[in-house]
Amino acid sequence: STVEYLDYRVVDANDWEIDDDDLFEKAAAADLDEEEYGTMEVSRNRKLLDAAEDNGFDWPFSCRAASCANCTGILVDGELEMEMNLIITDEEVEERGIRLTCQSKPATDHVRVIHNAKHLDYLQDRVI
Ligand code: FES
Repeated sequence: STVEYLDYRVVDANDWEIDDDDLFEKAAAADLDEEEYGTMEVSRNRKLLDAAEDNGFDWPFSCRAASCANCTGILVDGELEMEMNLIITDEEVEERGIRLTCQSKPATDHVRVIHNAKHLDYLQDRVI
């Protein structure tokens, strides 16, 4: 799968909206570094956090065991299937697209995800 990623801190700093249809086009047009925005190939049996590390990226995590919100991403397009989730509510998964990157494998050819989403206000009670 091709995973296109964008750092939440960039979204926040530019006052972009997560549900803006042109969000990733704006990111592509902006002068962002490789840690902030780009694409990577991820096999369907590789977890997103592991794949990011394979590419030399330093994505946040703590437990790697589905029990904190440190590794959180927001799925914007495509599908990321979580193997385990002990901390994110069904509503956050289904309505807000929240995924634990330490538990998520790509399930579609193209995925768009906002990484570093642990900075979201409503996750602060679950970030370690
Ligand atoms: Fe804690 Fe992924 S690092 S749930």
